[in-house]
Amino acid sequence: MSVVELRDVTREHGQVHALKGVSLEVSAGELVAVMGPSGSGKSTLLNLAGGLDRPTSGVVTIEGEDLSRVKDLAALRRGHVGYVFQDLNLIPSLTAAENVMLPRELDGVRAGRARAEALAVLAEVGVEEIAGRFPEELSGGQRQRVAIARALVGERRLLLADEPTGALDTATGDEILELLRARCDAGAAVLLVTHEPRYAAWADRVTYLRDGLVAESSAVRLESAR
Ligand SMILES: Nc1ncnc2c1ncn2[C@@H]1O[C@H](COP(=O)(O)OP(=O)(O)O)[C@@H](O)[C@H]1O
Ligand SMILES: [Mg+2]
Repeated sequence: MSVVELRDVTREHGQVHALKGVSLEVSAGELVAVMGPSGSGKSTLLNLAGGLDRPTSGVVTIEGEDLSRVKDLAALRRGHVGYVFQDLNLIPSLTAAENVMLPRELDGVRAGRARAEALAVLAEVGVEEIAGRFPEELSGGQRQRVAIARALVGERRLLLADEPTGALDTATGDEILELLRARCDAGAAVLLVTHEPRYAAWADRVTYLRDGLVAESSAVRLESAR
């Protein structure tokens, strides 16, 4: 069963048709890259896939549940969806560890356990030493890793990442892709927006958007690409 499925989804913002009828499925263990020019609807697609936004028409399901019928969408998101936002969205008044703990605490996990989980996942992404620092005290790469740690904590099955490699150097970007790929190989479904063919090469499939439509979808030949 697919972890996330979009069926003929549209999204209109007033006169702007951001998505004009897109269908996409991502299964457990699959990494799908979404590429396309600026304004083609990539972020809109990711927001719909994660239940952060609702489609104008069409159906979005996560783990088989039709999101339009879900009462507590925030709880479903916290339980299933890890999101790395384009602008990271770290909370400036919380330390790195507290940022990572937050979604778990909102889920009712006790603080001690949430902290232990946060430290473990910060270690996994290679920044455990900055756990007590605030976002403004971190480098861009460190912030990016904290945002990724926050998405990974709690073993979420659906990971959505909107250009998580941002302005990172290629070595750091490669490490981030390695992290996402490892989660994917452990059974997560990953949807990754990227401009970089270098990072799309880590995907099982690439979907190209143009003007709110899927222009092309193709399998990546993994061994040759990596
Ligand atoms: N909240 C919004 N209000 C109005 N228009 C929007 C909104 N969000 C996105 N759009 C428009 O929808 C289109 C797709 O945007 P977006 O999904 O952000 O594209 P991408 O991520 O590929 O750059 C663009 O034309 C954008 O201006
Ligand atoms: Mg975008």
